[in-house]
Amino acid sequence: TARQSAGEAYNVPAASIFAGGYHHPLLRNLQAERHLTKDMLMYPIFITDEPDAEVEIKSLPGQKRWGINRLKGFLAPLVAKGLRSVILFGVPVVREKDARGSLADDPETPVILALHLIRREFPSVVVACDVCLCEYTSHGHCGELCALETLTKAEQEVNAKIIDNKASVKRMQEVSLAYARAGAHIVAPSDMMDGRIGAIKQALVDDGFGNRCSVMSYSAKFASNMYGPFREAAGSVPDFGDRKCYQLPPNARGLARRAILRDVAEGADFLMVKPAMPYLDIMSEARELAPNHPLACYQVSGEFAMLHAGADAGVYELKAMAFESVEGFLRAGCTLVLTYFTPDFLDWLDEDQ
Ligand code: PBG
Ligand code: ZN
Repeated sequence: TARQSAGEAYNVPAASIFAGGYHHPLLRNLQAERHLTKDMLMYPIFITDEPDAEVEIKSLPGQKRWGINRLKGFLAPLVAKGLRSVILFGVPVVREKDARGSLADDPETPVILALHLIRREFPSVVVACDVCLCEYTSHGHCGELCALETLTKAEQEVNAKIIDNKASVKRMQEVSLAYARAGAHIVAPSDMMDGRIGAIKQALVDDGFGNRCSVMSYSAKFASNMYGPFREAAGSVPDFGDRKCYQLPPNARGLARRAILRDVAEGADFLMVKPAMPYLDIMSEARELAPNHPLACYQVSGEFAMLHAGADAGVYELKAMAFESVEGFLRAGCTLVLTYFTPDFLDWLDEDQ
């Protein structure tokens, strides 16, 4: 058989004992191709327009919505433990939203205030900004909508053609530029509109930010069931319909491959797969399709909630399970992990593992 001949070719001894390679904790560690380090963790944080807010998010254990006045006190101990990067999500709760998501790039919007503060107070921290309209639009969709009266009832029902792609991409350019001007190191469009990466990149280059602000594309972002806690946290549940006409169908390996290649061609600096745990195959494909790009994954709110729920139910120990999940991402080829476990990992990485 093929196996026998391979064995003969490599002269595998009859008594090959794999466990001989990993009988000691250090030897087990050395089996990894890549180890989790603090540099690889990016922490998602929610910032509201209530300046003194510190509001718990029930479905995201330990995570809060922060007001601008609380941000320094919250981040200082994490930076002291080695926090290297954050990704900001703005959550307007006081000011009124409109159909074009004007608050996204308002000069007083929480994300822009937070950018100034973090750049000033924590110069070692890399700041990424999620670029999307869903937290800012009155209807809760990620882009601008076509005039609904132009859609037939049937089209509205199947949720087709609701997005005005051209208008939405223009908003993504405006919002990205506003964040770049306010000091964002990275803009991360999560809206999934067609053509936005090239358009944003061009806008940044034209405005002199070509070498000062990176574009991290949520390239393969699936229409997942695991965004629920985030939408509660960010107040971004769509008013009607869902996001299936712009986020990828979970079964769509082909679309994911095409989206990755498209974003590479359009000039993305970083690629991302989201969610993470159920999409390890997509990560390893992204690694092969774009071997010269850093690859991020987003361990989303529902994954975080799920890992906590399992630990609370006694299914496993939280720390061990969190490490196991990230080891999967690293095996699949990721070099950056967006996770709500970041503060925990900063502690855990200092402990014996
Ligand atoms: C939308 C966006 C989503 C997340 C971040 N930005 C998902 C969505 O509402 O469709 C999810 C992150 C998470 O669940 O942690 N632009
Ligand atoms: Zn969105």
